[in-house]
Amino acid sequence: MIKPNRHYSELKSSYLFYNIAQKTKAYTDSNPGTHLLRLGIGDVTLPLCNEVITALHKAVDDQADKSTFHGYMPECGADFYKDAVQNYYKSRGIDLENDEVFVSSGASDELGDILDLFDSDNTTLIMEPAYPAYVDANIIAGHKIIHFPSDASVGFAPVPDKDVKADLIYICSPNTPTGAVFTKEKLKLWVDYANENGSIIIFDAAYEAFIEEEGLPHSIYEIEGSRTCAIEISSLSKTAGFTGTRCGYTVIPKTLEREGMNFNAMWVRNRTTKTNGVSYILQRGGASVFTENGLKEIHENIAVYKRNAKVLMDALDELGIWYCGGKNAPYIWFRCPDGMSSWEMFDLLLNKAQIVGTPGEGFGKCGEGYFRLSMFGDPDDTKEAAKRMKELLKK
Ligand code: MLT
Repeated sequence: MIKPNRHYSELKSSYLFYNIAQKTKAYTDSNPGTHLLRLGIGDVTLPLCNEVITALHKAVDDQADKSTFHGYMPECGADFYKDAVQNYYKSRGIDLENDEVFVSSGASDELGDILDLFDSDNTTLIMEPAYPAYVDANIIAGHKIIHFPSDASVGFAPVPDKDVKADLIYICSPNTPTGAVFTKEKLKLWVDYANENGSIIIFDAAYEAFIEEEGLPHSIYEIEGSRTCAIEISSLSKTAGFTGTRCGYTVIPKTLEREGMNFNAMWVRNRTTKTNGVSYILQRGGASVFTENGLKEIHENIAVYKRNAKVLMDALDELGIWYCGGKNAPYIWFRCPDGMSSWEMFDLLLNKAQIVGTPGEGFGKCGEGYFRLSMFGDPDDTKEAAKRMKELLKK
């Protein structure tokens, strides 16, 4: 008799963003024709930039000509794509070897798939509030989970506790949902902890392009000692509007080993077995993001999203509501007024102002009482949402 993965029964009945989509659909079904102001899931609203569109068109044409046609791509990534990522890191002073870079279909796939590298008998530390897929993917993998809470007193960027022993540690910086960014000093504490305990850090860098303050680390590899304890997972989804296009990258240093096993070599073995890579067309589009013009254009789009954040932050300031984020990350994390729970806030905003946000409780127990707004909405919708929030929440 087949034995199903029993860990699925330990999951919550549905995934946070699916749950919100269902609730939102129920609202529009009973209020047909309503235009919702969508500031929930971090999905981009601006189209791909010209540099990417041109590269994608050209790659499609390449596939139409026998002399430039590509069949299977190298499973771990085309050299032109890995070179582009390698040069991007080099521009920030980080030296990677070309085969330390792996192409991926985006961070969310990779953050779970990477667990293939680790025995099920491991303990994973998840700093909460956290992206819910970390928890779910680790439950499915059979790992024990340490829910490591954080709060505003540490700026939602906690430091290690030497009495808490974890094998795998997820760090998301800039952070979803709180927008917190770990300083180099805080990351160094985690790197030292990981090297001392033989742990591995999974560093989620999906939001690095949103950092605007000088001196904050964009990559874990800016931290001394990280090449022996960290894997970095990143994505073009938010950086370059690839949520519906799908392309990302993962970095695994060749120096990353435990018990005589090399994680870079293991991931090569995994990818060559489990994938046929990412399509030629998408890798061409992805590589174009890292050209001079590509980087200029994606930052023009990011500036539009930052203006959205400013509109929302001004509204919260006017209302006297505490919040963080919005500056170096595409999310604003605010404290629900009047002791409201985060799902009460969700229902209030949806029913009275037709705004969709994300309740903090969905990111872990310590997210209760908080609410997340995404800055990726349409600019006009965002202005309207700010106006409606001011009307609805003013005393
Ligand atoms: C989010 O809203 O946190 C993200 O967009 C979800 C995701 O990347 O899967």
